[in-house]
Amino acid sequence: MSGTLYDAVPYPGYPFAQTHPDRLAAIAHLLGMHTAPVEHCRVLELACGDGGNLIPMALTLPGSTFVGIDLAAGAIAQGRETIAALGLRNIELREGDVATVDESWGAFDYILTHGLYSWAPAPVRDAVLRISSERLAANGVAYVSYNALPGARIRQMLREMMLFHAGEIEAPMERAQQARALLDLIAQGQAKPDAFTEMVRSEIERMTDRDLWALVHDELGEVYEPVYFHQFVEHAEQHGLQYLAGANFYDLQDAAITADAQEVLGEIAEDDRVLRQQYADFIRCRRFHHTLLCHAGVALEWPVRAARVEGMFAVTAARPVAPHPDLAEGVEEEFRGPLDSGMKTGHPVAKALLMALIESAPQALSFEELVSRAGGVREDVAQILLATSMAGLTDLRTTRLPLVTEVSERPVASPLARYQAAHGEDLTSLNHATVRLAQDLERRLAVSLDGSRKRADLTVEEQTVAGNLARLGLLAG
Ligand SMILES: C[S@@+](CC[C@H](N)C(=O)[O-])C[C@H]1O[C@@H](n2cnc3c(N)ncnc32)[C@H](O)[C@@H]1O
Repeated sequence: MSGTLYDAVPYPGYPFAQTHPDRLAAIAHLLGMHTAPVEHCRVLELACGDGGNLIPMALTLPGSTFVGIDLAAGAIAQGRETIAALGLRNIELREGDVATVDESWGAFDYILTHGLYSWAPAPVRDAVLRISSERLAANGVAYVSYNALPGARIRQMLREMMLFHAGEIEAPMERAQQARALLDLIAQGQAKPDAFTEMVRSEIERMTDRDLWALVHDELGEVYEPVYFHQFVEHAEQHGLQYLAGANFYDLQDAAITADAQEVLGEIAEDDRVLRQQYADFIRCRRFHHTLLCHAGVALEWPVRAARVEGMFAVTAARPVAPHPDLAEGVEEEFRGPLDSGMKTGHPVAKALLMALIESAPQALSFEELVSRAGGVREDVAQILLATSMAGLTDLRTTRLPLVTEVSERPVASPLARYQAAHGEDLTSLNHATVRLAQDLERRLAVSLDGSRKRADLTVEEQTVAGNLARLGLLAG
């Protein structure tokens, strides 16, 4: 068989919001860094696959340049086809080993490596951090994701069982089918489930929810090397990098840990953020990390000052639990966001701020707009905005999103969404998320909205669907 396992069994690419340069810039800004503006920056992605993550960035940031590298010839060819179809000139995908990235590639403001570090042999893991340092601009930010211990042990245990069961079978998809059969047997075979087997079952659920191709690579691949957070940071430090933050805002203040435990962590770790995060991982049984790194010499501000959100933008995917929340002082209302995030508050400014963001979603509002819409003093609005972000309810950004939330006179869907809708159900929105369009009509409409059709000429049903596409962040104009 020629080519890699990724050529034999492709691994379709998707957008990962936590890798977006604007996310990296926003978090770096909160910690006092002066990063390159995302509208004019250079981005490198190691192990970019078919460009599912990088191509949408290149489309929405036309003033920036993007370079991706991957070993899989098939994935690179497919990515190049998409780039050609969209006519993008600010992105290039190169076929090759990440270890070949050298100084002739220049410096990058943002370097992204998602889904490689834990699945690659030691020399490749080392190359990832070496390049993330050598090719990183002075004020640049590198993103690396990896499977973290202690939580990843359960996955490792299941992997060992699956490898045992797949035995000598050679065909990758057949191995995955056998592995899945074993997972089903384990999940369903317990006559008297206990706490431990329940934990195993929930890990199995995560694995069986995914397609077989993901099992082939993520669970049955040749290498699976989870590491403790502190080990990863030590490895990064060997390459002259330092820990900046997690790539999710809620990592800035671990909301999943009780206030008492946070106090104990404060005593154990004092000002050592790496040690604190390591203990937080022990408590949470953390299984995955998205870590941001910068050069060792860069001065960071910690803790985050609320005033740093002034001048930023915010967007939310949260919803109120009550259909029409009462915004009056003291009436407690609950808001829920992605990944189990939530907040109960009776603070009128907090409620007004969240409702303003919910009404504008998926578009972002500037801090100044929030001050006037939420009706509080600047300092309060800044504190509240930062708190909602650390609770996982809002995302901070450094730029506004290139999308419209209302259907215009001549609606235009994102060119990438139009291209994707012609080929399948999974589309990438203009806020860098995956949107699944299961219905034919939705996909047909998305393909046809290229600015040539007047809104008034759409059928009533099409107008409703177009409104939904706008709310999903698929309309550019
Ligand atoms: C699990 S996939 C992740 C792809 C994408 N980053 C994502 O997260 O969806 C791993 C990718 O790493 C690529 N890869 C593995 N080893 C590599 C190496 N030494 N140099 C370049 N790419 C490599 C594979 O071809 C594959 O596309």
